[in-house]
Amino acid sequence: FSASLVAAPADVSLLEGRTSSLWLYNGLLPGPVVDVREGDRVRIAVENRLPLDTTVHWHGLPVPADQDGSPMDPVPPGATRIYEFDLPAGTAGTYWYHPHAHRTTAQQVSMGLAAPFIVRAANDPLAHVPEVTMLVTGIRLDAGGQVSPGTAMDFTVGRQGEQLLVNGGRLPVHGVRPGSTQRWRILNATSARYLRLALDGHAFTLVGTDGGLLGAPVGPLSEVLVAPAQRVELVVTVSATPGARFTLRAQRHAIDAMGMGTYAGEDLLTIATTAESPVAPLAIPATLRPVASLGPAVARKRVTLTQSGMGMMAGAGSFLIDGRPFDMDRVDYVSRVGDVEDWEIVNRTMMDHPIHVHGTQFQLASRGSGGLAVPAPYAAWIDTVDVPSGTTATIRMRQDMPGKRMVHCHILEHEDAGMMAVLEVRP
Ligand code: C2O
Ligand code: CU
Ligand code: CU
Repeated sequence: FSASLVAAPADVSLLEGRTSSLWLYNGLLPGPVVDVREGDRVRIAVENRLPLDTTVHWHGLPVPADQDGSPMDPVPPGATRIYEFDLPAGTAGTYWYHPHAHRTTAQQVSMGLAAPFIVRAANDPLAHVPEVTMLVTGIRLDAGGQVSPGTAMDFTVGRQGEQLLVNGGRLPVHGVRPGSTQRWRILNATSARYLRLALDGHAFTLVGTDGGLLGAPVGPLSEVLVAPAQRVELVVTVSATPGARFTLRAQRHAIDAMGMGTYAGEDLLTIATTAESPVAPLAIPATLRPVASLGPAVARKRVTLTQSGMGMMAGAGSFLIDGRPFDMDRVDYVSRVGDVEDWEIVNRTMMDHPIHVHGTQFQLASRGSGGLAVPAPYAAWIDTVDVPSGTTATIRMRQDMPGKRMVHCHILEHEDAGMMAVLEVRP
């Protein structure tokens, strides 16, 4: 598979009568979907026509460290960089790509740079189910129609006051034949907005997470929480009533103990059943694919999420990892290729943080608070784990490729302000 991407300024009409100057991949909001198969070799040339350094990070994919688009590998304005990697068997899933430049990731994503990256398996047990990809982004425009820059408050609690877009559209209407069963790949590409999804009058069946399908479907669920950077695959059987409308919404969700990081409920899109006669729902297999256990851990690490200053108003840089701000010349953790490790991520701050590790998919082992640990209810491959304020999440992980990898909060303002660390994986 080969493709080229151009990251460049582009004028788009979003508000009536006004032109918004965005930064886009190939002039598209969101960028073009990369749709590939396990076993493919991917070669993507990226031309940087932006006025600042960029990179493209292949979020969640097990690419070699030098193809990962980390902040250590900037692509300067005017330059073209070729990224090349293989997609091993077992990687089928819903990923995304976005810039990851030093200190400007939040800015670049909020200007429009993000897109889905879908990997398919030859033996997909849900291949018979029609699918829809929904990439959720946020946009905040000023009165003149321009993307408003990040504020000090954004750098504290994450970018606030954005409107949610689905595939670049505001409140799109999605027409569906009554009774249809669909597979939705939902990606949270917002800076900081937790999506606690619900579809009125309907239940979801969770069939996949960041790294692809679960072992077996989970549900019915009345809501599903998708933290920033996470993805879910949901199977939904739409109402058999013709001519009905239902709203998919992100419900109210608070991510800090003081009420500043509270997101009001917001509608995402409308499901409108057509006037046609209903179709019969599709059956979903009882097992999807094996999600192997990683086996016992041979090493243990503790990552402590900390906060400098007394309150939420300490300003930019107030959230840290192990009390230190990001320094790309420092190595914070060392692991060995092939070692299974348990990482205990302890959140001592007043906010929830979605913690992401590059280079591999991992599994949640348990969650705890106040000394009580509850094992994960089912095995799933994830690359981002939500760690609510005052709790501990233990993940089990194995890195299979050597090199330096980022470990960071995926509230992009936190990442840019220094809530990031370097893991060196040694051969
Ligand atoms: Cu999606 Cu290091 O990021
Ligand atoms: Cu990543
Ligand atoms: Cu954070």
